[in-house]
Amino acid sequence: MWVKVLDSAPKEGTMVKVTADDKNLFVTMNNGTLYAAENRCPHEDIELTLGCLKGNRVKCSLHGYSFDLVTGDSSEEDVDNMLTYPVKQENNEIYIEV
Ligand code: FES
Repeated sequence: MWVKVLDSAPKEGTMVKVTADDKNLFVTMNNGTLYAAENRCPHEDIELTLGCLKGNRVKCSLHGYSFDLVTGDSSEEDVDNMLTYPVKQENNEIYIEV
């Protein structure tokens, strides 16, 4: 099910916390493309929005591991991938499929 999470897209390079279906998620705009993922580092329980974007990855603020915005792939073999979600923009509004 698609859930509306924002009235407009985040600014380029920013991560915005949102809630959809009781999940703590974030939406980001990176190089003109929207991405959505779970706002929780798979390594330990910390919000990824405390980190930053590096290229096409989100870098966790605590230990510096990073996760691919498209695939969720972890930079560490022994750390789970980040959960990503389909995201779309319609009439400016942002929707995530949960
Ligand atoms: S808690 Fe995110 S890299 Fe360790």
